[in-house]
Amino acid sequence: MLRKRAAARAGPQEGMSRPRLPTGKRRRQKAAVPSAVSQPAPQWNSFAPAAPPVAVGETAIEADGEALTTVGFTLSGKDVPCQPGQTVLMTARAAGVRIGAACESGICGTCRVLKLSGEVEMNHNGGILDDEIEEGYILACCSRPKTDVQVEA
Ligand code: FES
Repeated sequence: MLRKRAAARAGPQEGMSRPRLPTGKRRRQKAAVPSAVSQPAPQWNSFAPAAPPVAVGETAIEADGEALTTVGFTLSGKDVPCQPGQTVLMTARAAGVRIGAACESGICGTCRVLKLSGEVEMNHNGGILDDEIEEGYILACCSRPKTDVQVEA
């Protein structure tokens, strides 16, 4: 132990060279920051939806003229426009309709609701049984309306 400390204090031994520290000029060259003009503009990612959500009661027409689907929540008595790509759960939340959800990725089954009419594209991860799908249930978190849809919520 004592030997190691003495060796550490002594510095490099014979035959070993110390690393050269940069001189003042080299240090300044290394530290030079490229001009801000030559830097590309920062790219900001946004996770916000491309189009603003349509408020309840507004005209449900998308920018390219495509009609939006509508999700009817029968227990709440609300018919809500649904943006393309929006899930039934997102639509419910935008309208203040409460549907319980936990994983929001089609695993837990918490958001299961009965679909009374219409078609959805449901990409779940095992959170619903085939029997339940046959009975008309969907997972709101991973179901996107293909047509106007009515759900029991
Ligand atoms: S919230 Fe878990 S499956 Fe929908």
